[in-house]
Amino acid sequence: MIPQETVDKILEAARIEEVVGDFVNLKRRGTSLIGLCPFHNEKTPSFNVSVSKGIYKCFGCGMGGDSVRFIMDHEKAAYPDALRFLANKYGIEIAEVENTPEEQAVNNRRESLYIVSAYAAKFFHQQMLETEEGNSVGLSYFRERGFREDIIKKFELGYSPDSWAALSEKAVAEGFNIQFLEETGLTIRKDKDKIYDRFRGRVMFPIHSFTGRVIGFGGRTLKTDKAVPKYVNSPESDIYHKSNVLYGLYFAKKAMRDEDNCYLVEGYADVLSVNQAGVENVVASSGTSLTVEQIRLIGRFTKNITILYDGDEAGIKASLRGLDMILEEGLNVKVVLFADGHDPDSYVQKFGSAAFKNYINQNQKDFILFKTSVLLKDAGTDPIKKAGMIREVVESIAKIPDSIKASVFIRECSSLLQIEERSLISELNKMRMGKVKKENFAPRQEEMPPDDLFGDEPPQQGIDSDEHQEKEIARLLLNYGHELVHWDGITDTYIAPYVISNLSDVTFDNAECSLIVAEYKSKLEEGELPSVQDFIKHSNRKLADLAISLVSSPYQLSENWFAKRKIYVKDEKENLRSTILGGIFHLKKRKVDHILKNIRDEIQTEQNEENQAILMRRYLQVKEVEKGISQFLGSVIVK
Ligand code: UTP
Ligand code: MN
Repeated sequence: MIPQETVDKILEAARIEEVVGDFVNLKRRGTSLIGLCPFHNEKTPSFNVSVSKGIYKCFGCGMGGDSVRFIMDHEKAAYPDALRFLANKYGIEIAEVENTPEEQAVNNRRESLYIVSAYAAKFFHQQMLETEEGNSVGLSYFRERGFREDIIKKFELGYSPDSWAALSEKAVAEGFNIQFLEETGLTIRKDKDKIYDRFRGRVMFPIHSFTGRVIGFGGRTLKTDKAVPKYVNSPESDIYHKSNVLYGLYFAKKAMRDEDNCYLVEGYADVLSVNQAGVENVVASSGTSLTVEQIRLIGRFTKNITILYDGDEAGIKASLRGLDMILEEGLNVKVVLFADGHDPDSYVQKFGSAAFKNYINQNQKDFILFKTSVLLKDAGTDPIKKAGMIREVVESIAKIPDSIKASVFIRECSSLLQIEERSLISELNKMRMGKVKKENFAPRQEEMPPDDLFGDEPPQQGIDSDEHQEKEIARLLLNYGHELVHWDGITDTYIAPYVISNLSDVTFDNAECSLIVAEYKSKLEEGELPSVQDFIKHSNRKLADLAISLVSSPYQLSENWFAKRKIYVKDEKENLRSTILGGIFHLKKRKVDHILKNIRDEIQTEQNEENQAILMRRYLQVKEVEKGISQFLGSVIVK
């Protein structure tokens, strides 16, 4: 657990425009900053950041929150991890307080694995830069391959000395528990008291999590001996799961978003060289075939993947099927082939950055069309092969969730294959039917992203619900509670106590509104005026969500919205009195109307005449109150 003081320090330091600005290109508009929403696809910006309130809100998809929430949503991080992320960004040290012993044990274990990995990365890096062996073997290797100093530093490349247990022994001598060295695979235990380093005499590529922590390593041998594996990688551990790690993602994610594209390469060296060429949106699957988790990881940052292949025919054909998975995830896939035995690394090192970029632009092909042409070439004139390949192409197209996109491909493939569009469509429909049937029998139990937790619910006000009116009160409290009133007859009071005292006879049905009002009430009774921040950062997430959307008033945050609702908003600001009174009395009227309806219902079911008369009298009394409210609303309230 992170102590509250530290949390406060982090919240204070983490300015919303800086935190969001790392991921979204923000432009000033009016009193707020505006940009393209990172949480949904959009062409015109509806993502607003209010610097003064410290919050963001998207009027397109409804996502909103403070700096911490932004990191949670954007990085899919848990609350404490988001805090750590921000602490790291702002150089705030976290001295964690103790959890339950079990939690602590788990956290400590994982944390120990992170720490020992970071230690090892630093060790390898220093060995390479500061020892003779490291210099002459490791550093000179990277230099020969054309890697600049800044890239070596950025990716924390290193060298693991060619001795049995240089790392293990030093780490243990410095107090590291051998258990954690073994669990990360840095140390291999041969028998009871014989240990050695996994990566002996290799140049080292630390693998970072997407938040930038070292979680594993790839180590390349410098020998040309074919019997020695070229790369040795860290084994799976509690902090390193190959299937959802992409090499280079931490360094690529910002550019992926900015460029709205991700280059996918095969190896460590490719990532480095492409980066060095000034193309930062590049990640590697590191030799394993691409997994769904990896695709989703990319999909968080961009929906466009460009795969950079070295052009080995067999390899291409083998991987074609795997790429359908990307289509299924709704991403767009392009492919660039490097010919003459080049991979992206060797190409860029040989021809330079400009030629490389140019090559990509000239040679990128849409995946479906690429696949079609590869298979077409392969089938030649063999009619049976050709029929088979048509099926395969249509199979890929059937995986595309967007039907408009699919129909564009049908058209293009029909001309490539010289087959009537109609027959492709009928093939496509057959496959889709098959898919639907299968899914009906075995519904996919996919975990849905918790989008619906954040989305603004559509206003669904039943006749019996006073939700709108209750939320309006909460909105007025949050937005205007601090303002001093100088109205006729009422002066020198803040709006918050004024509203609260006027609603002492009203019960709120909506749980969050009720909590907001209750907190106002209890704080006011203690002589304190609650601040908006108390609610925006409230530990009750639903309450915080509501507060955020209520204070992200269109007037403050969206000029577009402002334009649409100009009259309303102008009235609201200029005639605060009727706005506040309107809020109070509209709610009161709703409540009174309910009471009236209840009494009417009771009268109808009541058999006893005496009781009926009592109910009747009550009805008339309440009706008087209702009349008063209505008159008041009619005369004082303009809207
Ligand atoms: P490559 O053999 O293409 O390596 O394997 P590379 O990155 O181009 O390396 P250089 O240029 O020879 O230095 C692609 C990726 O496959 C994984 C590594 O992640 C490598 O970067 N790989 C390859 C292994 O994990 N083990 C191996 O033995 C070989
Ligand atoms: Mn290579």
